[in-house]
Amino acid sequence: MVRVALVGLGFMGRMHLSIYGKISNVQITALCDSREESLDLSKSGGGNIEVGEMTTDVSKARLFTDYKKMLAEGGFDYVDLCVQTSLHKDFSVMALKAGYDVFCEKPMALTTEEADEMIKVSKETGKLLTIGQCLRFWPMYVKIKELLDSKTYGKVISAEFSRYSPTPTWSVNNWIMDSRLSGNAALDLHIHDVDIIQFYFGKPQGVNSSGEVSAGGGFGHISTIYDYPDKTVTSVGNWLCSDSFPLIMRALIVLENGVINLDTSQSDALTVYENGKGKFTPVLDSEDGYYFELKSFAQNVETRKEPTVVTSESARDSLAVALAEIESAKMKKKVSL
Ligand SMILES: NC(=O)c1ccc[n+]([C@@H]2O[C@H](COP(=O)([O-])OP(=O)(O)OC[C@H]3O[C@@H](n4cnc5c(N)ncnc54)[C@H](O)[C@@H]3O)[C@@H](O)[C@H]2O)c1
Repeated sequence: MVRVALVGLGFMGRMHLSIYGKISNVQITALCDSREESLDLSKSGGGNIEVGEMTTDVSKARLFTDYKKMLAEGGFDYVDLCVQTSLHKDFSVMALKAGYDVFCEKPMALTTEEADEMIKVSKETGKLLTIGQCLRFWPMYVKIKELLDSKTYGKVISAEFSRYSPTPTWSVNNWIMDSRLSGNAALDLHIHDVDIIQFYFGKPQGVNSSGEVSAGGGFGHISTIYDYPDKTVTSVGNWLCSDSFPLIMRALIVLENGVINLDTSQSDALTVYENGKGKFTPVLDSEDGYYFELKSFAQNVETRKEPTVVTSESARDSLAVALAEIESAKMKKKVSL
């Protein structure tokens, strides 16, 4: 049994907690949030994705409002960090130095220097570190990766990714709308597409971005053209949509012999259009990426194997690309990588 300490019980912490109930070899043995009211699990933590029913067994969990006290008392194998992004580096480093493996939510940190320190301490302590870049585990996106890698439809000609969301309103003290704490949509929301683009196509040679500054500073909208020598790749991240608009994720990939269309606003979210054969909707696992990423990390902890799908280095590289996009949008010119 892998014992987990879950830290930060807002939107994502509650999401993770609901998922742990489905993973058989995991036991929650500590829950920590600096706000006592967040430890009351009967209340919702908000968010732009529905949190599943809370059936997870927390009967063995000790409750903490002080993170350092929790680390000192121990009684768990890894720490799952769902706190605000500005705490990711310090909380990860403290846990690693205290002798625990760490699953830390995305984005890895606010700067590459912070991310490098997290990686360095993970190596020095020999403790595992992964980041919640969940799209690499999300069945729709995993299927696309399989199709691209198999070369079934030939070479990719163009790929367009987007993520549109209503403006987040749930975060504690509205930290998410303070760019200094979250990086605004250009980092917080858009990092998902930045990371999946690296996963599919590797690191681009440069980025050319344009953004719209929104409340709290930083970019609430960002559009980017990625520089690849053999294909055109673009993306958009935007959380300036009205509150009645749903979170929508899209990916439209045109290949020599087919088109892959992911659009979560459609009932068949993933459709493949084959040259000369018509279209089909791949059968996908009903569990989501949060389930697979957490299950996978629990297995890493149990077997002492380094994560291979999301490595701390891959998450650091995605952060570097997203930060280059922000720089490009600010300077209004291309940034080379
Ligand atoms: N993977 C995804 O799809 C996804 C989606 C949403 C958020 N996130 C990430 O998850 C993280 C948390 O976001 P959220 O939306 O859940 O925020 P949130 O504000 O809803 O929750 C954060 C929680 O951390 C607690 N907290 C703050 N300081 C603390 C401290 N010192 N010690 C212990 N607890 C503390 C807060 O009280 C709050 O309950 C962010 O990094 C965000 O980017 C990831």
